[in-house]
Amino acid sequence: MKHSILILGGILLAFAALIVAYTLTQTYQFNGYILPEPVRAPETMLRSANGPVRLGDFQGKIVLLYFGYTFCPDVCPTSLANIKLALGDLTPEEAAQVQVIFVSVDPARDTPESLARYVAMFQDDFIGATGTREEIDWMVNAFGAKYTVEAPNADGNYNVSHSAFTMVLDRSGYYVMNWAHGTPSTAISADLHHLINEGIPVSAQILAGPTYTPVVCAVTLIPAHVRNGQWLYEHHCAQCHGMDMAGNPQWQVELADGSHLAPPLNGSGSAWTYSQSELLTIIKEGRNLDKPIHMPAFKTKLMDWEIEFIFSYVQSTWDINQLNYQHGFMTLTPNPTDTPAAPLAPLITVTPSP
Ligand code: HEC
Repeated sequence: MKHSILILGGILLAFAALIVAYTLTQTYQFNGYILPEPVRAPETMLRSANGPVRLGDFQGKIVLLYFGYTFCPDVCPTSLANIKLALGDLTPEEAAQVQVIFVSVDPARDTPESLARYVAMFQDDFIGATGTREEIDWMVNAFGAKYTVEAPNADGNYNVSHSAFTMVLDRSGYYVMNWAHGTPSTAISADLHHLINEGIPVSAQILAGPTYTPVVCAVTLIPAHVRNGQWLYEHHCAQCHGMDMAGNPQWQVELADGSHLAPPLNGSGSAWTYSQSELLTIIKEGRNLDKPIHMPAFKTKLMDWEIEFIFSYVQSTWDINQLNYQHGFMTLTPNPTDTPAAPLAPLITVTPSP
């Protein structure tokens, strides 16, 4: 008797453990299409009735971007109305973290003022913006969207057919996901809720399932570099960032002057969200050097390759998703320093056959 109770108890325990393990590994399935590789928002400066609009200005917020035009007979109004509905499902605090931007691909007819009136019909804080034809083409191309100005009818009116998906830019300005036209507002608000509260859009894509095939991590850590890096780390960085890279226990407390104590460099911090070249700049140039608590500049103390070794050691504490995420940044961030604006890419490259 006693024996069978024990067995029963054991079976129940095993079940409970299974359920816990299952819920822990369950990942949220997004309703939108998740881009295999995030796209950095272009720097294009557009115009709105309230002045210039650059996607980079909204870092920290989730941006919902929609290409359309105000003469659009049905698709644009339904999409905007749908977004408005989805935002209505969020708490005001959540909704405040989302910025909707409607970009007109019809600058010949849409002015910043007419756009402002148009988007205000949906919601006051939606932004309507447009630019020159070239600026718009540049942006549309960068995002892999499309539009075509159709031939005018007898009255001179014309339609513009355009990609009708709503694009999602994460808080760091990367285009990470889109919703197809007709996605129910409840599906959108569920995704938004998750994006706002979990804040891991890119790592999520690796776990998202069918739409994404995980890439094999392209970062190879060379054991000798990791070992050398450890020695260098312990001699130059550990005193502030900790032997275990966990940072100062108080690192999250913002000091009166806006600076912070040394943050973690291991996977529990945000070091892995920087590209390798951004990290190199931080370490060479330091940070907040004018503040009492600062990150010292190492350019006179360490050679670039020594810093690279330290990276290897730091990276050895990150998990595969974090390594992949950083790798995505490395290939997608053209150059963190101010490079002159790149020339306009040709819209369509057609090689005429001889
Ligand atoms: C004297 C203390 C000190 C030393 C030594 C030091 N750091 Fe820091 N580090 C800081 C502080 C403080 C900050 C945060 C500065 C701020 O943003 O207010 C920081 C920030 C950073 C950041 C940015 C992290 C983030 O999430 O924003 C990186 C990366 C970094 N340090 C790497 C290193 C490396 C690598 C070394 C060794 C070569 C090193 N640090 C040595 C104090 C130090």
